[in-house]
Amino acid sequence: MLPNPEPRLTMRPVEIGGWTYPEGVTLIAGAQLVHHDPAIYPDPYAFRPERFLDAKPGTYTWLPFGGGRRRCLGASFAVQEMRVVLRAATARFTVGPAGPVRRPRRRMITLTPGDGGTVVLARRVAAPAAEPAAVAAA
Ligand code: HEM
Repeated sequence: MLPNPEPRLTMRPVEIGGWTYPEGVTLIAGAQLVHHDPAIYPDPYAFRPERFLDAKPGTYTWLPFGGGRRRCLGASFAVQEMRVVLRAATARFTVGPAGPVRRPRRRMITLTPGDGGTVVLARRVAAPAAEPAAVAAA
């Protein structure tokens, strides 16, 4: 159940973190393990997006788009798209879970909500429109 960047095949012996891997082995970075390492992210299972406000996520400690030469080509586009869509959606609606939180499921290289991610949207109350200016009599 670990979402990971794509595997890498070693073309020659390589040393990583004190371990030497021979040529011809497949290595997979454990993004899930990195993202839930309390030494990097204190209280790692808490949903606290504000933890990223003070410092940009690290190249080697935030791996949703993989890393190195084969890092996701669409990463900037995907983040920009999320900014636009989430900003538009959360400006109009509040978002809450439709039911109890289910265990996440693996979907290819990522995880998705166990119930498919059903949410309840409630329209935000619009601020009252300003009174129309009185039309001056001719
Ligand atoms: C939230 C959205 C996305 C996520 C989480 C994501 C994640 C990833 C990951 C983990 C990899 C493997 C990177 C590695 O092995 O180091 C990858 C590769 C790739 N992604 Fe994405 N991706 C996203 C959106 C997109 C979009 C929108 C595009 C194109 C417009 C795209 C194009 C690619 C391509 C072409 C590769 C292969 C790069 C290569 O092998 O050199 N991705 N992506």
